[in-house]
Amino acid sequence: MIVAGLSPESSDNFHTRQSGGPPQSNPLQIAMTPSPKTAFVTGASSGFGRAIAQRLLQAGWRLIISARRRERLDALAAEFPERCHIACFDIRDSAAIDAALAGLPENFANIDLLVNNAGLALGTAPAPQADLAQWRQMIDTNITGLITLTHALLPRLIERKGLIVNISSIAAHYPYPGGNVYGGSKAFVSQFSLGLRSDLHGTGVRVTSIEPGMAETEFTLVRTGGNQAASDALYAGVTPIRAEDIAEQVAWIASLPAHLNINRIETMPVNQSFAGFQVHREG
Ligand SMILES: NC(=O)c1ccc[n+]([C@@H]2O[C@H](COP(=O)([O-])OP(=O)(O)OC[C@H]3O[C@@H](n4cnc5c(N)ncnc54)[C@H](OP(=O)(O)O)[C@@H]3O)[C@@H](O)[C@H]2O)c1
Repeated sequence: MIVAGLSPESSDNFHTRQSGGPPQSNPLQIAMTPSPKTAFVTGASSGFGRAIAQRLLQAGWRLIISARRRERLDALAAEFPERCHIACFDIRDSAAIDAALAGLPENFANIDLLVNNAGLALGTAPAPQADLAQWRQMIDTNITGLITLTHALLPRLIERKGLIVNISSIAAHYPYPGGNVYGGSKAFVSQFSLGLRSDLHGTGVRVTSIEPGMAETEFTLVRTGGNQAASDALYAGVTPIRAEDIAEQVAWIASLPAHLNINRIETMPVNQSFAGFQVHREG
């Protein structure tokens, strides 16, 4: 794999290339080797977020891992305790976000990569039967939480010429019955990503929207209120996207040279494609 750009590994490669030969044991060079870069991954307790965090940790990054379920974050951090900081908060709670950022240890305070992954779908009912509280929770999490954390981290990302990766969805672009507010929230994430690119013009900060199709995580379990049978039925006979597939995309984007911006990546499993429009006929 080509490793350059933001990857912590790239800096080491850079020094190796500068030497014009194999790595040298010059103490000055060892002293010059920069410390790992830092990524902030939300929703790191499960699915995409956990796989992204694991992939970045394996690549040498320093990680701030965030979600509500503390025990899951503890388990993840146990693999790389020196390079993990746990920021356990509900992303709908802006005071908790502020407190978590204020409590970042000095060696985790400079953020090079923000992965806005925390999110959820709740319910599949058509709009007239939908639960308004679930609609509000999706908006509070997928939109308000995401923009609140992003806004708070923008000064640090600008200072570091960093990268923002937002996890959107194909639901941002392709409607389906019962997708209503979930799809709307993801359309926001995709468009917000493009808007950020415009506003961050000239800062060197890069922004990518990752838009996956059907992936097997805890997503459907959450959406159906813990209905394992419904989740199993959805994925039966399908080879869905794996969380590791999306983690690989994030690692690749972060490895690109600083002059390249991937605007969006839309990925679906081969088993998933498009169906036609529905037509309601009178009489
Ligand atoms: N799976 C798919 O088919 C699919 C497709 C396209 C896009 N996506 C998107 O991918 C992202 C990750 O979902 P996933 O598929 O990996 O589902 P998942 O396994 O259910 O993971 C969702 C993550 O979001 C976190 N989260 C949810 N509500 C939160 C809150 N209020 N505060 C803090 N963290 C919260 C969860 O952590 P806690 O519960 O511990 O807080 C969990 O770590 C979401 O944005 C989702 O919309 C998923």
